[in-house]
Amino acid sequence: MRNSFAYSLPVKIVFGVGVAEQLKDIATSCGFKRGVLIADKLFAENGMADKIMKDCPSLVALYSDITPNPMLSEVTAAAELLRQTEADYAVALGGGSSMDLAKFACSLVFADSTATDYFYKRKVFGAKHLPLVVLPTTAGTGSEVTSVSVCNDDQTGIKSPLPCDNFYPYLAVVDPLLTLSVPPFVTATTGIDAMSHALEAFWSVNHQPVCDMYAEKSLELIFSHLEKAYLCGEDIEARSAMSLGALYAGLAFALPKTAAVHACSYPLSIRYHLNHGEACAFTLDMFLRENASVDGRLHTLAQKLGFRGVGAMADKIKDFKEKFGFKTTLKALGCEDVAALAAECQSHPLFQNNPKKFTAKSLAEVFCYYG
Ligand SMILES: NC(=O)c1ccc[n+]([C@@H]2O[C@H](COP(=O)([O-])OP(=O)(O)OC[C@H]3O[C@@H](n4cnc5c(N)ncnc54)[C@H](O)[C@@H]3O)[C@@H](O)[C@H]2O)c1
Ligand SMILES: [Fe+2]
Repeated sequence: MRNSFAYSLPVKIVFGVGVAEQLKDIATSCGFKRGVLIADKLFAENGMADKIMKDCPSLVALYSDITPNPMLSEVTAAAELLRQTEADYAVALGGGSSMDLAKFACSLVFADSTATDYFYKRKVFGAKHLPLVVLPTTAGTGSEVTSVSVCNDDQTGIKSPLPCDNFYPYLAVVDPLLTLSVPPFVTATTGIDAMSHALEAFWSVNHQPVCDMYAEKSLELIFSHLEKAYLCGEDIEARSAMSLGALYAGLAFALPKTAAVHACSYPLSIRYHLNHGEACAFTLDMFLRENASVDGRLHTLAQKLGFRGVGAMADKIKDFKEKFGFKTTLKALGCEDVAALAAECQSHPLFQNNPKKFTAKSLAEVFCYYG
């Protein structure tokens, strides 16, 4: 146990069924005058974006050209709209893709260089940025409380997380009602993403007591409600538990950051076109078993969560993956060069946060051992 740590997180949080209805009052009480709604395309098409703009008249424009895994060109276009409309705030409505695009755009609007320069860290943002209110519509990324934006370079196909203190949203309005329409496969992938955040926060070499508490509570909620939310999307109790679990997971990993599972998720997504949650799931049970050999706290955690031990907890994750129809083997991925995959995963900076250390060679052996 660490006997010294620091904890602070600058995001205000409003949580509850129906709280999204308070957006107008929230914007007014914050003194916001002119905003842009940055919303997933889906909400532009199904009328929800129009309804929100009608209910909250200080929102004067809509940006909705957002692809899952948002592109730097989209960040640039959103920033341009913020500039043209002379916005003094923005609202993001959507999953991680919409929130991450909006976070980046709210800083880019004041920048004197291109999105690409900041993405590749050739330039660093100054402190000036627009305040962002986020309304997550998936229960997964925890992006509502983190300082990270994950985007893609349209030119190179490179996907990478960019951390920046500016990217913390001003306010997270977490309303489980917004997640009721999430289809089962997305419920599964986003739920496993949140589970990965909580587990990785817990075993990260940077873990600390406050974040450990959030991680434990998050895992308790996710293990007991993910399957219910997957099987019955209308189950508001399960959806609420998943929204809260994903929020706690975001609070858990915001400071310690994630580790090997997320390090591997980027090459897995790029090479085999897995979405983020399925890519995390691919190695989650494997690293749980491996990390337990160097971090005894994982055995206690498994028992607190009601499992006989780490093995049973890892088996449960494997069951989830099979039930959800995820790819679980190298063969299913079509991976023919395990050594190259392992080398790329092991060299990702997040891998340094993993408690058990691997060389590229030992990681390749572990990949093969688990199949
Ligand atoms: N910033 C962070 O801290 C962080 C952490 C983890 C992941 N990420 C990133 O977030 C992105 C993934 O975000 P995500 O998993 O939330 O998915 P997403 O935002 O890409 O959305 C996934 C799909 O679900 C749909 N969708 C969203 N909300 C819906 C709703 N309420 N009803 C029906 N459909 C809905 C979207 O239209 C889209 O097709 C990835 O780029 C990932 O790398 C960011
Ligand atoms: Fe993630």
